[in-house]
Amino acid sequence: MLILNSPEVTQETCLRWKKESPIAFVPTMGCLHEGHLELVKKAKQLASKVVVSIFVNPLQFGPNEDFEKYPRVFEQDCEKLKSLGVDLLFHPGVKDLYPEGFSTKVSVGDIGNRLCGAFRPNHFEGVATVVLKLFSITNCDFAVFGEKDFQQLTIIQQLTRDFNLPICVIGHPTVRAEDAVALSSRNHYLSPLEREAAGQIPKVLELAKREALQYPEQTVEQLLVKLRPLLTEHGLKLQYLEVTHSRQLLPAQANDSLMSLALPHLFVAVYAGTTRLIDNVSLAIDR
Ligand code: PAF
Repeated sequence: MLILNSPEVTQETCLRWKKESPIAFVPTMGCLHEGHLELVKKAKQLASKVVVSIFVNPLQFGPNEDFEKYPRVFEQDCEKLKSLGVDLLFHPGVKDLYPEGFSTKVSVGDIGNRLCGAFRPNHFEGVATVVLKLFSITNCDFAVFGEKDFQQLTIIQQLTRDFNLPICVIGHPTVRAEDAVALSSRNHYLSPLEREAAGQIPKVLELAKREALQYPEQTVEQLLVKLRPLLTEHGLKLQYLEVTHSRQLLPAQANDSLMSLALPHLFVAVYAGTTRLIDNVSLAIDR
């Protein structure tokens, strides 16, 4: 496995490879868990060259967020990627991607102000900016993103459409632990008690899915009223619990019936202690 930190050398290498074979790319911030490894396995099915990036992107963290303490375990990550047969690991430093004078940022539009974006100003601008750079450096044909960050995936799909990028962006189903909690590098922060509380999140999502199937005539608010206490009574602090109805993740109205929504999707963000956790589920009948 080639390990490079120069954007120029990575770009040259990928351009050379691309003449012979397609490239699949998995962007990450490291501290790799089974969820990331599933994305890499998917990438391997898609193309004969697989590139992974590890970069904790300062542009997508707010001033009071966990940029400094975000877990960095580069050696362990390398071993995992090597054993999966990754061809190139791109591991730039902050100055490599944002040298003196860097100034252009991607504005993602209104979708970036909803759901997580309402609580993390400029987060998705930072994500879209780094992903566009990474796409340009890796020249990838395919890029694989986890569905746990469904809003991120949606925004990147929009970015590739809006900028006519010749890249197929693929969403991969969320990988869950035995207690069904979505795998996340931030789960490392949880105390045993907080981890137990986090177990409520997938239970609530499963209940929402069952409710949507059994009682599709109920309204969005009737469903949310049932779900909210199941999160808060277990010691989680609710940041948002929302149903969207379209590919652009537009919010459903409180009195919309679930069955009237074209693409109903439930999104949740909670705090377990000081750790912010997110998850989501489609409430559509066919998924
Ligand atoms: O999902 C992540 O880990 C990050 O947001 C990403 C896509 C690697 C961009 O920094």
